[in-house]
Amino acid sequence: MTSSTLRREVKDLADRLRGALEGDVLEAEPMAGHTTIGLGGPADIFVRAVSAGDVQAVFGMCRETGTSVSILGDGSNVLVSDRGIRGVVLQLAGEFKEIRFEDDSCIAGAAVGVSTAIAACAREGLAGLEVLYGVPGSIGGAVVMNAGTKFGCLADCLMDVCVARGDGTTETMSAEQLKLSYRYSILQDCEQPVLVTRARLRLRREPPESIRTRIQAMSRERRETQPVNWRSCGCMFRNPPSDSAGRLIDQAGLKGLSVGGATVSERHANFIVTSERATASDVRRLARLVQQKVQERHGVCLDYEVRLMGEWPDE
Ligand code: EPU
Repeated sequence: MTSSTLRREVKDLADRLRGALEGDVLEAEPMAGHTTIGLGGPADIFVRAVSAGDVQAVFGMCRETGTSVSILGDGSNVLVSDRGIRGVVLQLAGEFKEIRFEDDSCIAGAAVGVSTAIAACAREGLAGLEVLYGVPGSIGGAVVMNAGTKFGCLADCLMDVCVARGDGTTETMSAEQLKLSYRYSILQDCEQPVLVTRARLRLRREPPESIRTRIQAMSRERRETQPVNWRSCGCMFRNPPSDSAGRLIDQAGLKGLSVGGATVSERHANFIVTSERATASDVRRLARLVQQKVQERHGVCLDYEVRLMGEWPDE
């Protein structure tokens, strides 16, 4: 198929989506504006779905046209290639940003930011979610990644989630069905796209003041130990069993190592921070170099925590 035929097909699909959706439909949208690291080439079509009807319309049209759908949370834990993403990138907004409370549980839309949810729970005097303090991203992304810190992870309070599948079905999945483990849920391994739309969390009553005191301590520690004022995608690698990726990279003497505009943070070695001239390819090449050197020095193979999205030529 020629590139002009492909372009026409993308345009036709974008027009059809625009006609059917309440949310935005953007063409050739640079992903740099949608990722915390500020990098990434264009998505053919970027859709912000604001209702369950929008989600069904996107999945339906993409099924019909054989177009791939990539799901984006807050763009905090992803590295999008400089070539961008073919097909549709789907992000949630609108009704998926709603949060409510029932007794001691919190029901949060997948597009609610983790920090917004933590603050809302603290105001309600509900404790448990604050163990995620400092984790960037959305509740949906936190479910997929079973996000966490050394104080705990989402699995500690997740009861169940609502999901919408690419085949048009919807379902409630229990935390058990998600097979949550360290930075893992079964949603990472699904062949067709599975979109988390809502999560229900079981929390415990505690005075707001005492939750806030804990949050302040975590905030202080995070500012002291992580490069919070730099652009990054958070921790680059998962911690190996009973060890710390940051410590291993640091002990291999790799702080300050650079490729192009990407550098291993001097403050926390598991962060790759970027300057304005950085490309996604710089970050990927630096991450590979770090993996290689940690393997040589410690005999440990570091796995990505960050998810790579888009087209990556072998480089
Ligand atoms: N360390 C070093 N050098 C470094 C960095 C760390 O020696 O450059 C040592 C620290 O001194 C400490 C150990 O490594 O003894 C662990 O470091 P830290 O307490 O910073 O925790 P971490 O395991 O590196 C995890 C999460 C973070 C989360 C922090 C704080 C992972 C991969 N990372 O980091 O999550 O903020 O705990 O609770 O699990 C993220 O997932 O994106 C993320 C930032």
